[in-house]
Amino acid sequence: MNNIFGVRVMEEYIHMCSDGVRQGWHERNGGNLTYRMRGEEVAECRPYFRKEPGGWVPMGVQADNLKGEYFISTGSGKFLQNVSMEPQNNICIVEINENGDSYRIVWGLENGGRPTSEFPTHFMNHSVRKRVTDGANRVIYHAHTPYVIALTFVLPLKAEVFTRMLWKSATECCVVFPGGVGVVPWMVPGGAEIAKATCVQMEQYDAAVWAFHGLFVSGPDFDTAFGLMHTIEKAAQIASIALSASPDGKLRQVITDDNIRQIGKEFGVTLNEDVLNYRSEDGMYC
Ligand code: 13P
Ligand code: ZN
Repeated sequence: MNNIFGVRVMEEYIHMCSDGVRQGWHERNGGNLTYRMRGEEVAECRPYFRKEPGGWVPMGVQADNLKGEYFISTGSGKFLQNVSMEPQNNICIVEINENGDSYRIVWGLENGGRPTSEFPTHFMNHSVRKRVTDGANRVIYHAHTPYVIALTFVLPLKAEVFTRMLWKSATECCVVFPGGVGVVPWMVPGGAEIAKATCVQMEQYDAAVWAFHGLFVSGPDFDTAFGLMHTIEKAAQIASIALSASPDGKLRQVITDDNIRQIGKEFGVTLNEDVLNYRSEDGMYC
């Protein structure tokens, strides 16, 4: 196809937006997706860039390791359900300046607009994930996953508690996120505080629960990031159903710590021992 939508990375990005919508994670403008492009992908897209890029926009945050990078981003206030129909009006490609503190739009958002309001949060977390994964992580994805949100009303807001509950909700969860999931308390969306608090979690984890809001994940490619979001949300769904089906809110039996250790060994994954050794004060949450 002789346009930017024939470029593989754009196809995959748009496909992922639709996949999230199909899961019911993107009511209205809820959720956002950013991707740090490879040099060759930028080169493939460059012929379709605007003749005149937009002006530089300061982000209020800075990262040395993202100077000169290009990102694909959903637009702020844009509905992910409209991305596949009119990508050029709902997503954009932005270039980061040589100081690593401003962006400009080089493609997309043809009817106006700006990257997601969570762009500073995505940007700072791209910086962390690029550093801690030696450049492997390229995708940051935020979705309004209903069952993860529901669990934030009933579980203590602690990484160890959430991870134990999720690992024990479906047998292969501990293989998909052996490091566990972080938890960020309720914060105003789109602000510097949620960016900083999420960065603390993403130093260690590749997923962070946002209390009463949703989930924030990172991955090397679209499939891995989407799969992580999907696996965590499905585990949260099972946990929510099991907790609400139980007459006393307690779980009669669960996957044990020894079971989890066995899976870790068989699948050759290094499990977060702090999570395995954690015990909640009342012993209630697995
Ligand atoms: P945006 O429309 O700005 O991406 O915001 C949606 C959202 O989910 C904020 O957390
Ligand atoms: Zn959100």
